Amino acid sequence: MSSSWTSFGGDLHLDLTERRAAGAGLRAALEDALREAVQDGRLAPGTRLPSSRALGEDLGIARNTVVEAYGQLTAEGWLTSRQGSGTTVAQRTTPGPGRRTARPAAEHRTVRHDLMAGRPDLSLFPRTAWLAAARRALATAPHEALGYGDPLGRIELRQALTDYLARVRGVRTDPDHLLICTGVAQGLGLLCAALRERGAHALAVEEYGLPPQHDVARAAGLATVPLPLDGAGARVDRLDARCGAVLLTPAHQFPTGAPLAADRRAAAVRWAREQDRYVVEDDYDGEFRYDRQPVGAMQALDPERVVYAGTAAKSLAPGLRLAWLALPDALVEPVARLKSLADTMSPVFDQLTLAELITSGTYDRHVRRCRLHYRRRRDRLVAALAEHAPHVRVTGIAAGLHAVLQLPPGSTPEAELLARAGAAGLAVNGLSWHLADRSAPAPDAAPALVIGYATPPEHAFQAALDALCELLRER
Ligand SMILES: Cc1ncc(COP(=O)(O)O)c(C=O)c1O
Repeated sequence: MSSSWTSFGGDLHLDLTERRAAGAGLRAALEDALREAVQDGRLAPGTRLPSSRALGEDLGIARNTVVEAYGQLTAEGWLTSRQGSGTTVAQRTTPGPGRRTARPAAEHRTVRHDLMAGRPDLSLFPRTAWLAAARRALATAPHEALGYGDPLGRIELRQALTDYLARVRGVRTDPDHLLICTGVAQGLGLLCAALRERGAHALAVEEYGLPPQHDVARAAGLATVPLPLDGAGARVDRLDARCGAVLLTPAHQFPTGAPLAADRRAAAVRWAREQDRYVVEDDYDGEFRYDRQPVGAMQALDPERVVYAGTAAKSLAPGLRLAWLALPDALVEPVARLKSLADTMSPVFDQLTLAELITSGTYDRHVRRCRLHYRRRRDRLVAALAEHAPHVRVTGIAAGLHAVLQLPPGSTPEAELLARAGAAGLAVNGLSWHLADRSAPAPDAAPALVIGYATPPEHAFQAALDALCELLRER
């Protein structure tokens, strides 16, 4: 696929979302987006458009909608279509009389390439398999499933996850200790509130992490206490007695990318046992390790001291808001009670569907497919940087959906780099955004970017990579 096309792909994706939100139908939104891109020159004359099948898959819309939109724009003179050579942008575009003109450039978004971390490639969502699983789940669910139920969640999903997590991540739990929640975000909030009830005042967090999680802890009444990081992960020897628990990302530190060393895992569990505290293991991307077998969950070291948190946000889609906690015995009652207070229980249909997806083996196949896809993305990122910006170091292990790019000390400061990225329409985040304590950023910290290489759909990835390399080419 040509780069002129791929550079357009990210725009198109965003435009559709905006137009849909403004009430446009799918086909009209796509037509508008294409028309505007031709009109303002982002799609140059002669550019070959992707096949209707490829674009439909990337955008998650029916192929026929793309076929119809291409047909309409061909009739209007924006595109030409020739048997055997596909659809291209017309050499001279002649908008038909009375057509609505595109909005001025300043009025629409400036993001052309989205490499923000935190999202999987949403075009990979297994729509057909999900629909089939939903149909099967609904057809076989007992009437009782549609009533008020256990705040822990549907038994079908808790049983399926018990088996799956044991097999894939080595988690030691059972359905009576699993709670289904609305994202890890909710699970963490419930846990923090339960810890607060038990008298905790603070949660230890990694020095770099996910700031919205820190906000969740604070909203539940806990202060956050940052733990320094080094090449072996969090300095758990610095844990102090004020903290009722420590939040860790042992499989793949978020975002810097190192796994937590075995002796530190053991030390954290020892601290929790000796001090009557807890470890919260955020296993947000544990299924995505590309170099060798993933290290198993830390929870297996002591299920009575380690709370395991897992999510469908990376493996399926964050919009599902499906996540789970494997809880120590002592926390089941308080967390389930708080869940019941918050929202009675999580909605049942998606729980039943996910249970069906897991027990049928479809989830495993989907994760394997995604793993291969993201692994290739990461390889392409590493290779492109080695060629175009060899001074940039990709930190951490080959895993996950994001990477941290470390620039040498003395390079363009992070804020300036981000401003330049913004001007080029490239959405990326700086590592400093992830600091747990942003009031005191290290003054000598070398600039670093956090790259979500999974985020764009496939047709937009190469252009995003090109834009990133262009940004980093010079020191
Ligand atoms: C570090 C980390 N933890 C957890 C999650 C998942 O959160 P949730 O399940 O609330 O979407 C993410 C998602 O981006 C994450 O980056």
